[in-house]
Amino acid sequence: MTRLEALFSPAQRERLCAAIPRRQSCRAFAGTPSQGDWAALGYAAGRYELPGARLIFAAVPEGLFSGTLLGMGRITGCGAIAAVAASIALLEGRVHAGILGEAFCLEATAMGLGTCWVSGSYRKKQLALPLKPDEALLAVIAVGVPERKGAAETRRRKSLDRLCKGDTGLWPEEVRQAAQAVQIAPSAMNLQPWIMSLEKNRFVIDVPDRSRLELGIALCHAELALTSPHTWRLGDGRREPSAWAALR
Ligand SMILES: Cc1cc2nc3c(=O)[nH]c(=O)nc-3n(C[C@H](O)[C@H](O)[C@H](O)COP(=O)(O)O)c2cc1C
Repeated sequence: MTRLEALFSPAQRERLCAAIPRRQSCRAFAGTPSQGDWAALGYAAGRYELPGARLIFAAVPEGLFSGTLLGMGRITGCGAIAAVAASIALLEGRVHAGILGEAFCLEATAMGLGTCWVSGSYRKKQLALPLKPDEALLAVIAVGVPERKGAAETRRRKSLDRLCKGDTGLWPEEVRQAAQAVQIAPSAMNLQPWIMSLEKNRFVIDVPDRSRLELGIALCHAELALTSPHTWRLGDGRREPSAWAALR
């Protein structure tokens, strides 16, 4: 069984880590990926494996995406998605789905493509995906050639002080960098549901129960930023869904 700390090869780690600050949600696409990128995305969607989660790369009609959500704008010009599916039987499935989906977003970003996680503003019934009986579709990731390339817009993010418990100035540099990588991760409605803390040698990320997908997204960013040997644990013994990296 693949574990998070063994998910990325050194080359993948370097590529995806460099993509973290460059990723931002893209809602206006100029077209579908080239044939070569299409094949690479299909490969990327199947490359990473974690129990109870998988991505399905598929062509979609543009009409899949519906009206605006909180004024963010309808997704236009998009002809491809990665569908994010998780087993409903396995509690960690949703967290693992967040990890896989975000790794896909960063792969696409590294290829110069745009992505947007979408869980609300699309017509689920228009999708005919080969889901297994115990699987639920959690979200789709729109992917394609971005209409505009270039500098990231100003990000609206909570300060590290709001996202972290304790004085992050006293944290080891690499843990601070992991917290900063989580700070710029995507989240539904930009809620940024993460609370991070450093408890002895444990870097902990807590989320409310409804945000297991975002816990996985944060874990993907944190794992890519951590450089020292560590072991991830999911949740047991705490009230809220959480994960921590025990740093050695
Ligand atoms: C699980 C999830 C669901 C999302 N659902 C939608 C959506 O339905 N429609 C949309 O326009 N954006 C959606 N987003 C994108 C967020 O609004 C976006 O990540 C957030 O505003 C932060 O902006 P950034 O991704 O540019 O950093 C979703 C993001 C996540 C992680």
